Amino acid sequence: MLNGLIILCAYLIGSIPSGLWIGKIFYKTDIRQHGSGNLGATNTFRILGKKAGIVVTIMDVLKGTAAVLLAALPIFSDVSIHSLILGLVAVIGHMFPIFAGFRGGKAVATSAGVLLGYSWPLFVLLFIAFIVTLKITKIVSLTSMIAALVALIYSIVYYFVTGDFALGILVACLFTFIIYRHRANIARIKNGTEPKVKWL
Ligand code: G3P
Repeated sequence: MLNGLIILCAYLIGSIPSGLWIGKIFYKTDIRQHGSGNLGATNTFRILGKKAGIVVTIMDVLKGTAAVLLAALPIFSDVSIHSLILGLVAVIGHMFPIFAGFRGGKAVATSAGVLLGYSWPLFVLLFIAFIVTLKITKIVSLTSMIAALVALIYSIVYYFVTGDFALGILVACLFTFIIYRHRANIARIKNGTEPKVKWL
């Protein structure tokens, strides 16, 4: 019962549509009506600018981290498995938010937050990989998918070194979510119409 409530909490945390709410409250703009139509951090940068973009990025990342940290509550015996479940539930909340008609984001920032809570060295590696790749490609969606692939490779190596496959399961799920949610971006990348960032 209590476990169910905490899982519901993780879903509700993930469901907070930061970009949509920041846009509506402070800019009187529904970012889903502009740019890529996504309510994530990238479209917030694109439509509302750097300040809003940074705030939404931090909020979306922290949603994932907060959900993972719920597993540290004393009611949970196995912290590792519960943080994995709570992290995945938060990302599902971000993709299908109850507060935004179940039309959510593409899982990137919240997945990064989950990894920050679950395996901070991987988060640091991905942060560096993301910045370097974005400098080269100038395409956020492509960069996000490459970072997801880096995470997948890291988790496979981690399994062979430590024998722990929990990280691999988590990352494989996040990787699948991210690629699936970027279907439209993949089509635009293929036909050369995916927008590039101008601020790098
Ligand atoms: O974080 C989402 C990003 O990878 C793509 O966003 O708005 O360009 O579709 P967008």
